[in-house]
Amino acid sequence: MSKNIFLCCILAITCALAVASDPAPLQDFCVADFNSQVLVNGVACLDPKLVTADNFFLSGFDKPGNVSNQQGSAVTSAMVEQIPGLNTLGTSLIRFDYAPWGIVSPHMHPLASEILVVVEGTLLVGFVTSNPDNKLISKVLQKGDVFVFPQGLVHFQQNVGYVNAFSYSAFGSQNPGVVLVPNTVFGSTPHITTDVLAKAFQVDKAIVDQIEAKF
Ligand SMILES: *[C@@H]1O[C@H](CO)[C@@H](O)[C@H](O)[C@H]1NC(C)=O
Repeated sequence: MSKNIFLCCILAITCALAVASDPAPLQDFCVADFNSQVLVNGVACLDPKLVTADNFFLSGFDKPGNVSNQQGSAVTSAMVEQIPGLNTLGTSLIRFDYAPWGIVSPHMHPLASEILVVVEGTLLVGFVTSNPDNKLISKVLQKGDVFVFPQGLVHFQQNVGYVNAFSYSAFGSQNPGVVLVPNTVFGSTPHITTDVLAKAFQVDKAIVDQIEAKF
């Protein structure tokens, strides 16, 4: 009896692990065919006879993004939209550029863990563990340092130097997904009611209105 319960637990855990990343490919590749009308989990495959090296290629990752914005940061993506060949392969890449003191807002990726490497500059990075601890795990990174953000946990980056910085991040999914905390909480359409947010953040409704007005 208890043996059966134990077996059930092992099964439940292994099944949970199996769905925590992209499904394994069933073929060498499945270059995304954005013209296909077929709806599948991911993007339908281009006829392999039509596939070329360019389907697996992207240039320009040496070029900085434009950081003249409120956050002082920019994202350059190497996702399936840019590299159709990484459809179904369970991976993707991003370049982050940061102005001095620029930030990447607290956000999380529901579908993948992230591994970041600093190429230039000094970054403060961190993530927060889930309830009930909500512990901040944080570190200042120098050029060449690598840091990992676990799947689904809220994390952020800030350039804490006086010169521009940049980093690359790789993900364990072709589509890690992005949930930006400020935008989802204060910038949803329509807004979450002021009463809910005022109670959640333990502030006056006027403060909620003030924050919402910025989105
Ligand atoms: C960068 O973005 C700012 C604000 O959108 C814009 O004014 C500026 O022309 C852009 N710079 C370049 C080099 O594209």
